[in-house]
Amino acid sequence: MTTQYSTVIVFGPTGDVGSIAALEASKRGAKVWLAMRDPSKNIDGITKVQEQQGSFHRIQADLTNAESVKSAVQQSGAKAAYLYRVNGMEDSIQAMKDAGIEYVVFLSTSVILPSQDIRQIPQSDVIAYLHAKIEIALENASIAHTALRPAFFAGNVLRDLDRSKWPWEARVVHAHWPSDCIAPRDIGRVAGSVLVDRPSSTSKEIIYLAGPQLITSIEQWNIIKKVTGQTIEIVQLGPEEYTQELVSKGFAPPIVKDLVRYKGEVEIESFYPEQFYKEWVANTKKYSGYESTTFEEYIRARGLA
Ligand SMILES: NC(=O)c1ccc[n+]([C@@H]2O[C@H](COP(=O)([O-])OP(=O)(O)OC[C@H]3O[C@@H](n4cnc5c(N)ncnc54)[C@H](OP(=O)(O)O)[C@@H]3O)[C@@H](O)[C@H]2O)c1
Repeated sequence: MTTQYSTVIVFGPTGDVGSIAALEASKRGAKVWLAMRDPSKNIDGITKVQEQQGSFHRIQADLTNAESVKSAVQQSGAKAAYLYRVNGMEDSIQAMKDAGIEYVVFLSTSVILPSQDIRQIPQSDVIAYLHAKIEIALENASIAHTALRPAFFAGNVLRDLDRSKWPWEARVVHAHWPSDCIAPRDIGRVAGSVLVDRPSSTSKEIIYLAGPQLITSIEQWNIIKKVTGQTIEIVQLGPEEYTQELVSKGFAPPIVKDLVRYKGEVEIESFYPEQFYKEWVANTKKYSGYESTTFEEYIRARGLA
């Protein structure tokens, strides 16, 4: 028999995935504690009306401050938590356990491949290594958890848009590299569903998630142009130039370098293994009950205002 949690805590409810996870948990009848670094902050993904109508309660907590995490969990009485990876959060994992959390839904990543041992990932695989560190910390603290391992977010492509030029420019690297473009809404719906309705009683469940179509960035930009009616010029950059541009926009250099490396060096078949890809797409419906969002639907809903 699986467990159902009537009170849950969501760390990072302002996030694209966290906000939807909180909403879905509320729809499923749970009392939802919204644990925020700044509890006065606006939550774009949850309207004021939704917040008032659901059973939501805001509380202060910073994942890099174990005492704040312990206190938030104790006040909430929650036994289940949703978590993002942030640098320096390891002490907070044990603090959660000490405060009564018995089950976590952790937003990990599909760059930890199904065949990989999380304890053997080299530090040079930065993105996989950093997420694996949190999965290991959860295992070491003996907290049962569901590791959600989504592939590439639909919104990633929009980082490449430069609106300071006219016409707008899409400044892309490895333009023919296909990605699955999973909508954060789909991930959030799965996260909120499995947060309230724990899918199994095993100590660790891994759920890979992927968007319904593999499309290159050129194809993604063609869809964006069609939906928005905008003229957007595609400018193809080399890996160095692209890395510098993203870093200058504030993205962490090791993460950007790793992302560019994946696109340039790693076989697409390793990211979307043929024997698993369909199952990863089907997991959205399987665990949340909702159909997957296509890239075009994502862009229509998001707009480019
Ligand atoms: N992009 C991809 O293709 C991809 C693929 C697989 C997995 N992922 C994972 O997904 C994550 C991004 O998800 P997203 O788009 O939903 O993120 P997001 O919209 O950027 O939201 C991040 C959330 O984390 C919260 N946060 C940051 N530092 C915190 C701290 N110290 N304590 C508590 N909360 C903190 C933020 O709260 P504030 O409002 O306080 O800032 C915000 O709510 C990535 O970081 C990665 O781990 C991404």
